[in-house]
Amino acid sequence: MKAAIISDIHSNLEALLVVLKDIKKRRLKSIFCLGDLIGYGANPNECIDLCMKESKVIVAGNHDWAAIDKTDVATFNPVAAEAIRWTKENMKKEGGSKLKGLELRQTVGALHLVHATPAEPEKWRYLFSLEEYEKEFSAFKEQICFIGHSHIPAAIYRDDNGYCDLVRDNPFPIVAKRRYIVNVGSVGQPRDLDPRASYVIYDGNNDSIEIIRLDYNIPLAQQKIVMGGLPDVLADRLLAGR
Ligand SMILES: [Fe+2]
Repeated sequence: MKAAIISDIHSNLEALLVVLKDIKKRRLKSIFCLGDLIGYGANPNECIDLCMKESKVIVAGNHDWAAIDKTDVATFNPVAAEAIRWTKENMKKEGGSKLKGLELRQTVGALHLVHATPAEPEKWRYLFSLEEYEKEFSAFKEQICFIGHSHIPAAIYRDDNGYCDLVRDNPFPIVAKRRYIVNVGSVGQPRDLDPRASYVIYDGNNDSIEIIRLDYNIPLAQQKIVMGGLPDVLADRLLAGR
């Protein structure tokens, strides 16, 4: 099986369209989406519709749940909370109904799919350090867990002696005696100081994984955020990639 794994689209239609075009060009038939379809950007309805249409599997992100009152927006920073209020005002009713159907985790063969962490997905914890990643390996039994949430792409492996480290190559081979947690980064709001959209290709036929980065029309996405009345800082951060 070959699949594209996307996450954290955050209502950024310009970034999503570029990613979907690249996936199509590579003839990848399966897309798995790790949530946060909405929040921050100006096109929630278009992003919900496209993700739902194109993805074989979608799990819920914290912004998806906040927009349908399943996660308390009081846990969000003020700008993120303002973006959720804006999204609720601008999201069509059908969009909210579609988000209600999303579950916290899914498995597809050897793949575990979750937005935040496999151990406690409903707590929306962030994984940044190697130590934080390491603790999560006992929380899933599949060989590979794909996550999003931090908007920072990374791949961490654990071998059968329990040794854990960062994978430094890209693309990289899937080694039989290793298990992996792969953060696919963010389509619509990257935060690793690289503003390009991020997604991952899983190639189960050739046992490899690749993190893909793509340029997209950032000025247009920024313009829509400002003109739509969302906080300006959400436009600024797209260019900064943080
Ligand atoms: Fe997110």
